[in-house]
Amino acid sequence: MENRALYMTIALQEWLGLRLETIANFLVLGIALFGAGERKSIHPASAGVVLTYTLSMAQVFSEVVQAYAKNEQNFNAVERLLYYTELPSEGATTKPDDPPPTWPEKGAISFNNVEMAYREGLPLVLKGVTFDVNGGEKIGIVGRTGAGKSSLLQALFKVVNPQRGSITIDGRDLQDVGLTTLRTRLALVPQDTTLFLGTLRENLDPQGTRTDAEIISALKRAWLLPAEGSPVDSEAEAKFSLDAPVTDEGSNYSAGEKQLLALCRALIKGSRIIILDEATSSVDVETDAKLQRTIQTEFASSTLLCIAHRLNTIVYYDRIVVMDDGKVAEFDTPLNLFDKEGSIFRSLCDEANLSREDIVRIRTGATVQNTTEATN
Ligand SMILES: Nc1ncnc2c1ncn2[C@@H]1O[C@H](COP(=O)(O)OP(=O)(O)OP(=O)(O)O)[C@@H](O)[C@H]1O
Ligand SMILES: [Mg+2]
Repeated sequence: MENRALYMTIALQEWLGLRLETIANFLVLGIALFGAGERKSIHPASAGVVLTYTLSMAQVFSEVVQAYAKNEQNFNAVERLLYYTELPSEGATTKPDDPPPTWPEKGAISFNNVEMAYREGLPLVLKGVTFDVNGGEKIGIVGRTGAGKSSLLQALFKVVNPQRGSITIDGRDLQDVGLTTLRTRLALVPQDTTLFLGTLRENLDPQGTRTDAEIISALKRAWLLPAEGSPVDSEAEAKFSLDAPVTDEGSNYSAGEKQLLALCRALIKGSRIIILDEATSSVDVETDAKLQRTIQTEFASSTLLCIAHRLNTIVYYDRIVVMDDGKVAEFDTPLNLFDKEGSIFRSLCDEANLSREDIVRIRTGATVQNTTEATN
């Protein structure tokens, strides 16, 4: 839409410019003819002066039009800024009784009967969600499209406030935690990653708190740069060097690369609680398997909530939450859920051609690589 408006403006400017120039040239023509007709009564020097000034009119006209159009565009920016200043505030960024910087120490999360709707008057998306996650536990979240998986995260990050119920992290109700405090302590790898105009370093570590070596090491662990000892890949090195330019919205990276960069951010942040929302849905199966290993080792002591459609990537997690229609339908270890007759998890596994043997094999540490790829 934005682009279309821009093209329209350019086209209109050209249209106006052409007409203004035509008018100016007709003016010149008129004066020249007049001068020629009245050559007896008008002094040639006066006619010459008038003609010279009129000739520069064409130029002046188009400059005025351009300045006017530019001015109007700039006013758009002002208008947008005004609009942003009038937006209601999301909430306090910090609160007086905010938890200490070490929070969350354990990373235990608990949802207590959380009900949430995106806006007043819209139907409830979470309809009484209750579950407890222990510190350091790895939780897979599955469920059909629209079941409310991403909405759980929206509630956890206080993007949308629950209407009823409470969410606590290490015993602290999120209601009493400032937004900035909360969001800097959790790491999120979202379904659609946002990158900003700038360099890769600014994108990965916006606060500038990490050293180059730390960021490069994270890039290696996210498999964006070749690992230690492997042959040098100068193309990847140029693309993922810390000063590599990132275009607006990261359009110079593929969807998969963006997801890996988001994972990199999480690695750099080193949070106690990591949330992955379909973090690897756009990367190929082999890279996904490598990443899962990275996730397992790097986030070994962190609490991990991972939403995934490829079931084989989450069956080695400690427990699985199955969301259905805004509620927690099932919550148990993968094998227990699989063994339960008629469970939703079982039917999802069946659809993905994932047998009990596969699950056992993956959980006992066999590679994730060769299992059937299960996309939704
Ligand atoms: N910003 C929003 N405003 C209003 N309704 C929304 C918004 N985002 C999601 N919803 C609604 O909430 C419901 C749950 O959406 P959610 O994104 O949590 O699903 P999901 O389980 O993550 O699905 P998927 O597997 O496709 O990612 C959907 O019915 C959707 O229409
Ligand atoms: Mg989602």
